[in-house]
Parts: sequence; structure tokens; C-alpha cells
Amino acid sequence: MTLALPPKPRHFIDLWRFDAPTLRAILDDAQTRKAARMGWPKGAPDSDAPAKDRTLAMIFEKNSTRTRFSFDAAIRQLGGHSIIATASDMQLGRGETVEDTARVLSRMVDAVMIRSNAHQTLERFAQAATVPVINGLSDASHPCQIIADLQTFEEHRGSVAGKTLAWVGDGNNMCASFMHVAGQLGFRLRVACPSAYAPDRVDVARGLELGAQIEITDDPRAAVEGADAVLADTWVSMGDTDHDARLAALEPYQVDAKLMSLAARDAVFLHCLPAHRGEEVTDEVMDGPQSLIWDEAENRIHAQKAILAWCFGHG
Ligand code: CP
Ligand code: NVA
Repeated sequence: MTLALPPKPRHFIDLWRFDAPTLRAILDDAQTRKAARMGWPKGAPDSDAPAKDRTLAMIFEKNSTRTRFSFDAAIRQLGGHSIIATASDMQLGRGETVEDTARVLSRMVDAVMIRSNAHQTLERFAQAATVPVINGLSDASHPCQIIADLQTFEEHRGSVAGKTLAWVGDGNNMCASFMHVAGQLGFRLRVACPSAYAPDRVDVARGLELGAQIEITDDPRAAVEGADAVLADTWVSMGDTDHDARLAALEPYQVDAKLMSLAARDAVFLHCLPAHRGEEVTDEVMDGPQSLIWDEAENRIHAQKAILAWCFGHG
């Protein structure tokens, strides 16, 4: 007798695992859903409510404003509900294993979003879970944010294919996720960072294997020259302990009006937030006409709705 295996859950852990059509479908769904509900109250469900009666659990090992509120808004707009917990309040914080927690929550909710310190926690959780697991940021990557960023770019500048994006600063989790998706979506990625804070070679290799055009330099001016978008993030991510060394090494990588002037005339500025104004970016750029940061923050809701819908089997 052969037993039917339960269907494998659709996890959303890292962008390098996704092919171009799936990524394109998620980006298009995010924009379609955004357009369809323009002017509606933020709590009103989408007309198709694809997550009706579904519950999303969210576990946070680190602080969050955007990810927490946007996922909560997103699941409600899809017709579902959320339960939010900080890991330190859970038995996880007293030593219950990641795997046992995943098995228990899989019996109680329909999907789990985790913001973890170590990427391995996410991987272990996903391995043991029987419901979809979503990466809400780890030390290694931040894929949901990159979907929102690319949605934002395309909303203002059209398809990202063939465009040049310039990452300036720390070669961190955000930078890794941009490298993980550049090949499938066909944009060039220039990364400017000091050698001490260069991206992980494994992430560069993953991008290159998927056909990405990635150039790495220590010269921010060379990276930004003629670029269609300039991308920045904090110099000190959650969990980083070498604060002073980072500020010293990254100081030449501040995005200011002079650096922006080297980019294409219609170049846009993106930052996942929270920003440290006066460090990685000046107020003039943050609040200037090329900055799309508020659209980018809002798009976390729309992008995550498309991700959740995909996890629940749509598309
Ligand atoms: N960009 C982002 O993930 O923000 P939060 O840390 O506030 O969730
Ligand atoms: N690189 C930052 C992103 C915050 C959203 C961090 O990991 O803290």
C-alpha cells in the first residue's frame, strides 16, 4: 500500500530558490492588488479574500516596525487573522526546540512568519513545519523587503529588467537578497562597499550561478555612475557588535546629493528603513524628490499580500 504524502508547504525563505516566472507573478500580483483597492479603508478585505479564515503566526527574535505592522495589515486585507509573539515570551526563549515549536504551531495556524537572529533557525523551522514559513528577515537575508523594493521601482520606472541598481554601504542581508534575485529578473547590480564589509562570497556565487550581473567595487562613485536606482541601508544591522569600526569604515559611503547627482537623471533612491539620518544617507536625499521611501514602506503590505497568497497556493 502506498501512502499519499502531504503536499510540501510553499516556504518563502530566500529569493535564489525562486524562478523568474514565479517572481514575476508575485510582483505583478502585488501591484494588481494595490491598484484594485486604491482609496479603500486599510482594514477592508480584498474582494477575493484569498486567505479567508487563515491564521498567520508571527515570531520576532528582533525588533520590527514595518514587518510587524505590514504583515498584520496584509493578512487582514487577504481576509485572514494574525497572532504575534516575541520569541523571548515563548517557550522557545526557555529552550524548547525550534523543531518542536514548528510542529506545534503547524497544528494551530496556517502559516508562520519568523524574524530570526540566525538564518539557520528559519531553515530548521521550515524543515519541521507542515505549513508555509516566511522569512521576515534574518542575519543573512530579507527577501520580503526586496519584493517591495522592486515593486516600488517598477511602479515608478517600469520593468527592472535591463536596469542598473547600485547598492552603497554594508554588504549585508539586504544586499544579499538583491544579489539572490538580480539574475532571474535581469537587472545589473553594482555593489560599493569597503572590503571589510563586502558581501558574503556564497551570496555572490548564488547570484552569479543564476546569471546575475554583479559588480563589486570599493568606489561608491563608480557604482552609482549612471545607475537607475541607488540603494542604501543602515551601516549597523541588528545583531552587529562592531558599531564604531563600521561607522569609521563606512563613512565614505554616505549617500548625499553629490553622490546622487552621478546617477541617471531620473534615478530613484530606496532605503528599507529604519534609516540613520546623517549616517548612511542625508536628510536632503531621504526627503528629496528622488526618494521613494514612503511608497517603499507602504509596498511592504502589497508585496507581502502577494507572497502570502503564493504561500497559500495562489499563482
Ligand atoms: N524594513 C524593515 O524590515 O523594517 P522593520 O525592521 O521595522 O520591520
Ligand atoms: N540590515 C538591517 C535591515 C533592517 C530592516 C538589519 O538587519 O538590521
